[in-house]
This record gives sequence, C-alpha cells and structure tokens, in this order.
Amino acid sequence: MFSENASLSKLIRQRPIVIELLETTGHSFWNHLDMTVESFCRETGTDFAELLRVAETMPVPSSDSDWNRERSYRIVDFLNAEHRQFRDEDIPILDRLFSRQDSSELPNSFGMKFAYQTFKSFAESFLEHMHEEEEHVFPYILRLEDVCTLNLESEFHPTHQISATMIASLGHVYEQHLDQLALNTGSLKDEMSDFKNRLLLHAKLEIEVLFPRAKAMEKRLEARRNILVFA
Ligand SMILES: [Fe+2]
Ligand SMILES: [Fe+2]
Repeated sequence: MFSENASLSKLIRQRPIVIELLETTGHSFWNHLDMTVESFCRETGTDFAELLRVAETMPVPSSDSDWNRERSYRIVDFLNAEHRQFRDEDIPILDRLFSRQDSSELPNSFGMKFAYQTFKSFAESFLEHMHEEEEHVFPYILRLEDVCTLNLESEFHPTHQISATMIASLGHVYEQHLDQLALNTGSLKDEMSDFKNRLLLHAKLEIEVLFPRAKAMEKRLEARRNILVFA
C-alpha cells in the first residue's frame, strides 16, 4: 500500500491513525511532512518496516466508537475508510444495478433513466466532495488539532453545505423515483436505501462531531492569539 518513497504527508492522509504511532516517537513530524517516511525514520531512529507494517494493518476504529471522546485522527481514519467503501464499492455497484435497469425494455423506463441520470450527477459531485475532504479539509482539521497553524479561514463550512444538498438530491432519487416505480428493482432499491442510510450517518459524524470540534478549536486559537496580541 505504501511505497518506500511515500511522504509523511501521504501516509497521514491515507491512514490518519498513524499519528497515534508517530506521537509515541516523541519527534515533531508536523514540520517534516514533505520528508519521505524512510528518511524521517532514519533521522529519528524509528523502525521503518514496523511503522509501515502498523500503518497497513492497524484496524480502522469501530463504527460504534464514542466519537465525542475520540481524537480527531481516529474519526478521520474512520471517515476515510468509509470514503473508500463509498468510492470503490457502493458507487460502482449502484452504477451497475442502474445500468442493468436502464438497458432493459421497461414500460416506465423514462423514470428509471431520470433516476439513473440524477444518481450519476450525484456520484460525480460526491466523488469530488470526498476528494476535497481527504486532500484539504481533513488534513486541515488534523493540523488544527495539533495547534501549529493559525488559519482562521474555516475551510470546511462551504463544503458541507454542498454535502447536505447532495444527500438531499440522492434522497429525492430514492423517494420520488425508485420508490414510486412499480418495477422489480429489489436489489437496486435495497442497495440505494442502505447506501443512503450509511451516507447520512457519515455526514452526521462530520457535521455534528468533527466540524463543530474544529470550529471550537479555531475559536480557542483565536482567543489565544488575542491574548498574545495584548501581552
Ligand atoms: Fe466525508
Ligand atoms: Fe462530507
């Protein structure tokens, strides 16, 4: 999964839970994100093979974790794993189920084609949304938790308005179209319903736990900065 030349930054983006391990080395790694993992380990005397082994095999935190008590890197590790499932499994499966329906000669194939089209545009925006979170929003929050930077421009607020709209549009596909089509679309309906439910839980964790926490951290940083200004 990780090549020898992978940077620390890439390692943390893909498996944020390695922060748990990196913190135990006692070395500052936030200022060395561009270093390869190999040279970081060499310079800090960390066992490189062991670090990679742990990064690849460390279990993703369980979905029934008490998220309010978990560090952000554990929440993000879980959210990233869900992103992988949405991207690599759910979306391709739904796409296949839709295309099967679409290609058959159904009496109300117009409704099904519309539902498929709506799903495709949802999937396109959602893939972009996940990429944005993984590349910018989540790393920003992890960095924020480490209290190293002072970027008070909140990056995650706008992206989540988009997410709410996207989930609403998916719900619309499900409720207004699939559910009303008197067709034998059992597996498509079940898969869509399951996907939508997991997506709502995913968004709930981001919107109700991770992002409010990040906003609170930004406020604390701002308060601290104000104290420094007056000191
Ligand atoms: Fe997400
Ligand atoms: Fe999201």
